[in-house]
Amino acid sequence: MSATDDETRITQCCGSDCGKDTNTRLKCPTCLKNGVESVFCSQACFKRNWKTHKAVHPKADTEGKTYDPFPAGVYTGTLHACYPLAPRRAVDPDVVLPDYARDGMPRSEQGARATTIEILDKDGIEGMRKVCRIGREVLDAAAAAVKPGVTTDEIDAVVHAECMKHKAYPSPLNYYHFPRSVCTSVNEVICHGIPDQRPLEDGDIVNLDISIYLGGYHADLNETYYVGDKAKNDPDTVRLVETTREALDMSIKTVKPGVLFRSFGDIIEKHAKANKLSVVRTYSGHGVNSLFHCPPNIPHYARNKAIGMAKAGMCFTIEPMLNLGSYRDSMWPDNWTAVTVDGKRSAQFEHTLLVTEDGVEVLTARLPTSPGGPVPRV
Ligand code: MF3
Ligand code: CO
Repeated sequence: MSATDDETRITQCCGSDCGKDTNTRLKCPTCLKNGVESVFCSQACFKRNWKTHKAVHPKADTEGKTYDPFPAGVYTGTLHACYPLAPRRAVDPDVVLPDYARDGMPRSEQGARATTIEILDKDGIEGMRKVCRIGREVLDAAAAAVKPGVTTDEIDAVVHAECMKHKAYPSPLNYYHFPRSVCTSVNEVICHGIPDQRPLEDGDIVNLDISIYLGGYHADLNETYYVGDKAKNDPDTVRLVETTREALDMSIKTVKPGVLFRSFGDIIEKHAKANKLSVVRTYSGHGVNSLFHCPPNIPHYARNKAIGMAKAGMCFTIEPMLNLGSYRDSMWPDNWTAVTVDGKRSAQFEHTLLVTEDGVEVLTARLPTSPGGPVPRV
C-alpha cells in the first residue's frame, strides 16, 4: 500500500544536476502541456537546469515527431541525436538500488580510497560470478534485438525489462544522472551513447554496454555488433571490429597474479597499429565489484603509467576502444556521447575479469548461444 495523494507523493526532482527526492507540486508547464509531469524541487533548480531540461521538449512544429536537439556544428560525422528522449524508466520496488540511484551521486565510489584495490573473499567471488552471468544474459537478449529499423531506445526497453526479470538494477540508470538503462554507441560514437529514437540502419555498427547491479555487486560488459549484412561486407568496418575483439582477447590471455596493469595497453596498441587503427586514450578499464567504477585504472594505450599489479581475488575490466582514424574524442552537448573527432568509426569490447591463483576467469564470457561473435575479414 502506498500513498498516492498528490500532496504527499514523493518523486525525484527533474533538475539534471539535482535529482533529489521532493514533494513539491512545481511542474514544468511545457511538459504538462505535453502530458508529461516533470517535477522540480524549487524554482531556482528549474531555472538552473532549464537549458538541459528544455532539450527534452518536442519543438512546436515537431509535435509527435522526432527532432535533432543540437546545432549542426556539434556533429563530427553523419550520426545525429534523435529526440525526444523517453521519460526515465521505472524500477520495480523490490529491486535493490545502488547508492546513486536516487540523486545521481555515487558517494561510496567517491569515498573509496584512490589506490586500494579490493581483494574479494569467497562470498564476493560468488557474488561477482552470479551478477556477471546474468549480465551476459542481459547483453545477449539485447543483442538479439539488433536489426535494421529497431531504435536504440527499443533496445534500452529490452535491457530494462530483462533487468527487472532478474531483479537487477541497470547500473547506468542515473549514474552521474545518465538518463537510460544501457549505453548504445553507433558508428562514430566511442562510448556512452544515449539510447534515442534513431532506427538502426543496415551497415551500422552498434556497441551495447551493459552494466547491472545484483546481490551487492556490479557486472560490466560490452560488445560491438554488425547491423544487417552490409556491415559484415565492409572491409574497414570488419577490420575495426575484429581487431578490437582480438585486442581484448589478447590482453586477457596475459592476466594472472603479478602482471602489471600498465602492460595491457602495450599489447592492445601493438595489435591496433598492425591493423592501422588508433587507440582511444580518454576512457579506461577499471576495478568493478560492489562499486561500479573503482581502482585500478587500466589504460588501453602503449607506454602508459598505470600503477599496480594483478593479485588473486581482484576484479577489473579491460575495455579497449579502437578507431579507424584519429584516436581523439569529443563530446556532444548531452555531456555523455563521446565521438571521434573525424567522424570515422569506433569499436569496443569489454569483459569483467577475476584474477585467479594461476590465471584469469572471464566472468562475462560468451555462451554457446550468444548472438554476434567473430566474422571473417573481407
Ligand atoms: N559501462 C560503462 C563502462 O564500461 C560505464 C557507463 S557509465 C554510464 O565503464 F553512466 F554511462 F552508464
Ligand atoms: Co566498464
